Amino acid sequence: MLLAALLSCFSIFSNQPAQAQTSLIQNAPARRVLSLNGSWNYIIDPYENGFYDYRREAFDKSASGKGGYYDNQKPSNSQEPELIEYDFDHSAVMQIPGDWNSQDAKLLYYEGTVWFKKDFKLKPTAGKRYFLYFGAINYEAHIYLNGKKLGMHKGGFTPVQLEITDKLSASGDNFVVVKADNTRHAEEVPTINTDWWNYGGITRDVYIAETPATFIVDYKVQLAKNDPANLAGYVQLDGAEKAGQTVTLNIAEAGLKQTLKTDADGRATFRLRAKKLKLWSPLSPKLYAVTLTNGAETVQDKIGFRTIQTQGQDILLNGKSIFLRGISIHDENPLIPGRARGEGDLRMLLTWAKELGCNYVRLAHYPHNEIMLKLADEMGLLVWAEVPVYWTIAWENPTTYQNAEQQLSDLISMGKNRASVMVWSIGNETPLGDARLKFMSRLATKARALDDTRLIAAALELHRTPDNVVHVDDPLGEYLDLASFNEYAGWYWGGKPSEITKYTFDIKYNKPVVISELGGSALAGYHGDAETRWSEEYQEALYINQIKMLSTIKGLRGLTPWILVDFRATRRQHPVYQNGFNRKGLISNTGQKKKAFYVLQEYYRQQAAKYDTGK
Ligand code: GCU
Repeated sequence: MLLAALLSCFSIFSNQPAQAQTSLIQNAPARRVLSLNGSWNYIIDPYENGFYDYRREAFDKSASGKGGYYDNQKPSNSQEPELIEYDFDHSAVMQIPGDWNSQDAKLLYYEGTVWFKKDFKLKPTAGKRYFLYFGAINYEAHIYLNGKKLGMHKGGFTPVQLEITDKLSASGDNFVVVKADNTRHAEEVPTINTDWWNYGGITRDVYIAETPATFIVDYKVQLAKNDPANLAGYVQLDGAEKAGQTVTLNIAEAGLKQTLKTDADGRATFRLRAKKLKLWSPLSPKLYAVTLTNGAETVQDKIGFRTIQTQGQDILLNGKSIFLRGISIHDENPLIPGRARGEGDLRMLLTWAKELGCNYVRLAHYPHNEIMLKLADEMGLLVWAEVPVYWTIAWENPTTYQNAEQQLSDLISMGKNRASVMVWSIGNETPLGDARLKFMSRLATKARALDDTRLIAAALELHRTPDNVVHVDDPLGEYLDLASFNEYAGWYWGGKPSEITKYTFDIKYNKPVVISELGGSALAGYHGDAETRWSEEYQEALYINQIKMLSTIKGLRGLTPWILVDFRATRRQHPVYQNGFNRKGLISNTGQKKKAFYVLQEYYRQQAAKYDTGK
């Protein structure tokens, strides 16, 4: 523990982002938790007065480490109260989880720092460890407990986890302060330009996980690669007694119970025969109760087992060729504006996808809430998960690459036990170039090293020639398992919807073809003919002709049209048709289904009839 204490001291004063002392806790919500969701006080701080003194020196790097808003300083009730120019307890309140843009009209477009503060009571139990866990904070977060810096984190869509075992107050009265800054920067991930709203703040659940001194920090329990008869995985312990420990893996319904022994690093890997498993699929999303016990704790999870692989231009799920009836989804609730807040919002989005006839969703363009992956497991939806390596990333910047790799590693760590996840996508529409290819091929190699049981993909670039041929020969395709690309025939190029069937596709790779985006905008309720841009009829005609055009592609094995629901986007400024929304949704931001929804729904009904014969 002394070492951990020393390390934590180092992280307070180092100018490097302090990484959590341990790997991300797998299935963190399953640990006994104290939720910190609810009302947090907040202070808007565009000049970062709560972080820097007037000479722009960071308070938390000064000798005392004091002076910032994170002190949560109060007058000492003397006759001459100190000059304190902030007061959390008399400041406004925001509901967490929840972005700030949709909770305070002053913050709709705000980019900068907002401070948050939450009091909580927690008396630590001897022998237990405590971890402060944020599902996501967009984008850069500095986190303090009881006035002391715990660390900082970059990345707006992956968990933030910090051990607080030795930092809880003996009295049980604690307060946590977060400095959240959603300012965009060219060298960050995502970069300065995106087509989604830059929702800032603490956008996912916050809680404290309690664990024994030596606990099950991580595990993977899945089928071995392409082998439905064997489980393969590992259990990782963290703590002073992690070596030589006995861990029991139990999947009672499968008649499987195995005692494992951890090595000197606290890790036990396994490969077990498991012939009686009912495999997971969208048609039969079977989940097993899996328990892991190390004596000190028992971790429960619900896990599905399936294999996914490609064979030529086929995608095989449990050895059977499938067609991916997909739709793209942003992490945003249209009906209660803002980032999706929790299970209710997420279940609504996936229920719409099921109604559309989907067996697959593209969770664009960044890691979604861990709950979304568990719902996809439960509801029988395959998932394309993605990191926000989007458009013009700073390809030559080593820190940018490390950031992208860390976000990919956290995404894979969070989703590795989810049967629904079939694709790790390393990016979207990144422009051709040597530096980009070096960056992206390295990321693809890293993804495969982290998890070789899933497909690695990205939205590739395409180009057209005057003979109406769409060419997909992006060199990045060599490193990927799918020939997946975004094409906007009928909207961004190719003329009117009725004209796009003139296009044919020349795809360099003998790999399954998955159209990762297609579509066009329509303002719900605006009607015209099939040539009236922005009308529902135009979007309807576009989908009809897209389906005709794409059906000529021999290796077509799926599509995720853009997008399920209209979403906020600052690029979309037309005051009549857009008004700050990207209108490519098949459903409007008031929940109204557009005509094109039914075109795709009928196509998927036909595809299901063709492919979904039996389990
Ligand atoms: C791009 C991009 C999306 C964007 C869409 C659009 O392909 O991947 O993020 O929203 O096109 O232009 O609507």
